[in-house]
Amino acid sequence: MGNRGQKTGPRRRKRRTLKKAWERPLPAIKRSALSLPEEPDFIFRFAVYGDNQRGIPVHRRIAKDILISGAEVVLHVGDYVQDGKKSEQWDEQFRLPARRLLEQTLFLGVQGNHDKDSPRYYEILQPPGGKPRFKSTRDPVAFFGLDSNRRLAQQARWLDRKLADTGATWKVVFFHEAPYASSWPWPGGALKTRKHLLPVLEKHRVDLVFAGHIHNYERFHKEGIPYIITGGGGDTPAKPEQLKNPYLVWSAKKHHFITADVYPDRIEVLARDLAGVPFDGVIVEKGGPREIELKPRRRYNGPRPRQYPNRLGKR
Ligand SMILES: [Fe+2]
Repeated sequence: MGNRGQKTGPRRRKRRTLKKAWERPLPAIKRSALSLPEEPDFIFRFAVYGDNQRGIPVHRRIAKDILISGAEVVLHVGDYVQDGKKSEQWDEQFRLPARRLLEQTLFLGVQGNHDKDSPRYYEILQPPGGKPRFKSTRDPVAFFGLDSNRRLAQQARWLDRKLADTGATWKVVFFHEAPYASSWPWPGGALKTRKHLLPVLEKHRVDLVFAGHIHNYERFHKEGIPYIITGGGGDTPAKPEQLKNPYLVWSAKKHHFITADVYPDRIEVLARDLAGVPFDGVIVEKGGPREIELKPRRRYNGPRPRQYPNRLGKR
């Protein structure tokens, strides 16, 4: 008898060893890069990140980096979890990795589209006034958080009043869906934030705007205001520069977070990788933003950007 049908031993299939972006080994933290400035007029540091979602190891690392950096205030631009309706995800993906930040800093967070207005957002984040849009001040900076899932016309009127009232030197606004983006799968940015918020932001000449939703880093300048996408807090990074955008200054496909050092006459903003090393930066001054020269660095080397004429140029 032949050996038809007889097993010839376990079939060895080559398993694909592609790991999810957030499961890859993390670089060692470069503590010296994260230390606070020693200039006598330095006031305080705040940090910004977002879109951690499923990337728990990266989120844990970013929380550690921010603690080491000595930031007193942390802004989160939303998407704490993959599915806001699943209560356990709020613990696994957000509360536990960010536990020490929540305990030791003034942690201010707005909601993203994944957060779904969960009661756990209010319980864990405790937004000022218990509302999804809020103002919080740490002199000399006023922070304004908005909820881009809700009606923005109303919030724009609220923001207009609050910006008119504030006596703070620096005005920082943050929300989830950025007015401009150059990345797949969301080319152009959110028309709703562009339509409702940009006129108010420009009228009051705010100093900095942060958003997320796109899982990478992108910096745009328009009318002297830097709009920074910082959605690299853990979930899979997205390709930048998929769309030509006249306001784009710099972008990067990487997990990251931001530190911003506040002085009486300037805010020094640095985007940092997981080791804490800066890869982009801008100095915000009343006369307009100024580049921080960081060398060497390479532009994103992906496919050539495409033009989507209908999505840009409305404002
Ligand atoms: Fe999002």
